[in-house]
Amino acid sequence: MKFFVDTADVTEIKKLNDIGIVDGVTTNPTIVAKSGRPIRELLAEICDIVDGPVSGEAVATDSEGMVREGLWLSEIANNLTVKVPVTTEGVKATRILSEKGIAVNVTACFSAGQALLAAKAGATFISPFVGRSDDVGANGMQLIQDIRLIYDNFAFETEILTASVRGIGHLLEAARLGADVATVPPNILWQLFEHPMTDLVVQKFLQAWEKTGQKLGD
Ligand code: E4P
Repeated sequence: MKFFVDTADVTEIKKLNDIGIVDGVTTNPTIVAKSGRPIRELLAEICDIVDGPVSGEAVATDSEGMVREGLWLSEIANNLTVKVPVTTEGVKATRILSEKGIAVNVTACFSAGQALLAAKAGATFISPFVGRSDDVGANGMQLIQDIRLIYDNFAFETEILTASVRGIGHLLEAARLGADVATVPPNILWQLFEHPMTDLVVQKFLQAWEKTGQKLGD
């Protein structure tokens, strides 16, 4: 499973990328607004840090505007993926952009039917929002399972990018269900490293080793 980081915090992206666990980055208008930085400069910097796909979102509501903004975004870097919502206009823009060879992440997906539309339009990624689905009484994980089944039935190549992830539980369940990617806020990725038993065992081994007086590499 690929890990994308759902943030525009360049310091966090660098730290996680240095460990070697970052396969890509997703941003959205809220995340970019929070950074307080000009979008072009911000996305260019992130694309430079990370080897994998970096999503930048179009904000136009008509397909023509989305295509225009998508082309502008795609000029920022080779690894820039254009994000558009799974509206009628977004699906139309996805078809146009993907036929031009531009990677498209179709976002704000809340139903398997929308995921089917995105795949038919040639989306590179579909982003089902699991946390926000749960918020409105739906079942985010059922959505992932349904999309996986449908995409496998027809061998669609669109990757399932689990979004709106609220905790490790969502991440692991998405992995169990065979989602291709999870985009996760940095704090959740950091939590994956943590286990009190690991800390305890490492400490015990080091104490035992210290008593031997030996040094590795001598
Ligand atoms: C995905 O690409 C989105 O940026 C993100 O996961 C949105 O989720 P949230 O607004 O519920 O955090």
